[in-house]
Amino acid sequence: MPGRVEVGMSGVASLGHGVGLRRPHWDTIFAEADRVDFVEILTENFLGEGGRARRVLEQAAATWPIVLHGTALSIGSVSPLDADYLAGLADLIRATGARWFSDHLCFSSAFGVEYHDLLPVPFTAEALDHVVARVKQVQTIANVPFLLENPSYYVQYAGAEMGEAEFLSTLCARADCGLLLDVNNVYVNSRNHGYDPYAFIDALPLDRVLQIHMAGHDDLGDVIIDTHGAACVDPVLDLYAYTLGRTGPVSTLLEWDNAIPSQAVLLAELERIRAVRPVGARP
Ligand SMILES: [Fe+2]
Repeated sequence: MPGRVEVGMSGVASLGHGVGLRRPHWDTIFAEADRVDFVEILTENFLGEGGRARRVLEQAAATWPIVLHGTALSIGSVSPLDADYLAGLADLIRATGARWFSDHLCFSSAFGVEYHDLLPVPFTAEALDHVVARVKQVQTIANVPFLLENPSYYVQYAGAEMGEAEFLSTLCARADCGLLLDVNNVYVNSRNHGYDPYAFIDALPLDRVLQIHMAGHDDLGDVIIDTHGAACVDPVLDLYAYTLGRTGPVSTLLEWDNAIPSQAVLLAELERIRAVRPVGARP
């Protein structure tokens, strides 16, 4: 509803429902600007880019509220944070007037080696101390909230000292950072690792959730792969409805990064997500 500000449990106004700004849609998305409430920019797609990419970025920032999302920060790595990357990130935040910026609770590089994957951090007290200190360092680059996303993961460490939800709760409290809650990742992990996704949602620090990700995956039967290459399945929409019942309105973004569909299909999927209403009980 135009002009209506909806504020959820986090105390931060919801931006509504958004999509990622993907190159196949650069020529056409602006003509349907009113079907999108906000846009997420993948940091690595625009970092240091000039020319067309920069012009599209500036047009997007003039059209919608912007949030930034990265994959290369490697907050859990034992190698120092990349100062050049942080400087570029700060530039993008300034240039777009981003409302917040996010990355994943993972490590994707160490000792100069890029793993090209988002690997989970061990849920230990030592790792918690390490990540809290690095989040505080990242928070110094901008005066907007920094959010960490719960990733999908395919390994668990035998030395874990706490669960993922406890790790996230303590991290958000100690570092005073936000949570980007990927509902599809919760579902994927719950299936792959055999836990109750509803109980997991209940255990999260929901007052820290400033943004939600929704996405599709590939279900191979004995394992689910978080591909971001399909429409959301009904169980993920159900889990989203349950989450909204607890958080209240939260900015919700559709991630579709592989097998990127036509704009018509993308926006129809966004409407499907927009139509989800909060529910008070699990189905
Ligand atoms: Fe995500």
